[in-house]
Amino acid sequence: SAVDVGPSDYILVTGGAGYIGSHAVLELLQTGYKVVVVDNLCNSSKESLRRVEKLTGKVVQFHEVDLLDQPSLEGVFASYPISAVLHFAALKAVGESVTHPLRYHRVNSVGTINLLDCMYRHGIWNLVFSSSATVYGEPDRLPLTESAALRATNPYGKTKLYIEEILRDAAMSDSRWRIALLRYFNPAGAHPSGRIGEDPHGAPNNLMPYIVQVAIGRRPHVTVFGSDYSTKDGTGIRDYIHVVDLAKGHIAALEKLVRTPTHGCVPYNLGTGVGYSVLEMISAAEKASQKTIPYVIAPRRKGDVAEVYADPSFANRELGWRAERTLDEMCRDQWAWQSTNPHGYGSE
Ligand code: NAD
Ligand code: WQD
Repeated sequence: SAVDVGPSDYILVTGGAGYIGSHAVLELLQTGYKVVVVDNLCNSSKESLRRVEKLTGKVVQFHEVDLLDQPSLEGVFASYPISAVLHFAALKAVGESVTHPLRYHRVNSVGTINLLDCMYRHGIWNLVFSSSATVYGEPDRLPLTESAALRATNPYGKTKLYIEEILRDAAMSDSRWRIALLRYFNPAGAHPSGRIGEDPHGAPNNLMPYIVQVAIGRRPHVTVFGSDYSTKDGTGIRDYIHVVDLAKGHIAALEKLVRTPTHGCVPYNLGTGVGYSVLEMISAAEKASQKTIPYVIAPRRKGDVAEVYADPSFANRELGWRAERTLDEMCRDQWAWQSTNPHGYGSE
């Protein structure tokens, strides 16, 4: 149940209408927290939160606000007693960040600074930030621990790295801040109800949503980016984590911040510790969907690395959290979402 947050307090969730944010909102409500969401809906729809309300039988306070609109953001902070913030709102398409770097730096970094200003003014010090394993760039050794070198290789990744630095500086300047940097590995899957999930606009950039769009016949085949890596079958290996496990990791991080008198800024890897190849992902999705999923081998994608997986033991130990859901569950739930919502939230 919700701990040490007053009964009238709210958790503010930025980007709460999005893929990971909507799953976190659901977990917060089910744990007993009250939730206020700010999202400008640039990559999501309000329908996700309407469904979260139906699934939980609880209400979400929603405000269509852009983090770059400081007065409107301030208005939300002035309207609710907020005790902590989960900060998901960001732009996240790696390729687009290469063509529009200023947009990425503005939205992700300035958006975060505006949020920190509001938190500071209102004396709110608990923050859980959506970082990414992308801050590790190409690994020197595996599995990746939190102490590995940080080196982002594209503008999107740099925004995550710079925001981590900004948050570390803030925490060093004022010991009241309590900040968790959650470095997600590869989120996949959907809520087991099949009612909420990822709804990418246009062709998906990520592997799992692409695979299931092929399975339902929206696209002819999966393009496998490279089969000549020095991995077990030559294709890239990643640490896929079920989005429900990831959402639960946020509750664990939030409760750690609120419960323990530790201050500062602490990074946590949220992954499973196990890597799967692209071909393993395709065959697991074939099993879950009972469909043949055609694929074509293509050259490597620029900027990709052969193999990435987490050492999640620090988060296991410190947060009392671990990823529990299997690859088959990820594929089953991704398929349940995709097959019942073939066109995402626009399906009904
Ligand atoms: P998403 O696009 O589904 O969610 C992000 C949400 O933020 C969207 O609802 C979008 O409308 C909102 N948003 C964007 N700019 C905004 C602004 N200026 N003001 C208000 N709202 C704004 O993406 P997601 O996959 O749910 O990712 C959530 C967070 O996790 C992001 O910070 C992302 O960088 C990070 N992350 C994602 C992944 C992944 O593979 N999905 C991996 C690592 C980290
Ligand atoms: C996974 C594997 C591809 C698509 C990205 C971001 C990272 C983080 C998560 C936000 C790789 C292969 C993919 C396809 C393929 N996001 N692939 N065909 O690249 O590990 O990480 O999303 O923080 O920052 O870079 O994830 O899902 O794109 O790729 O063969 O159509 O699947 O080469 O091996 P990635 P992904």
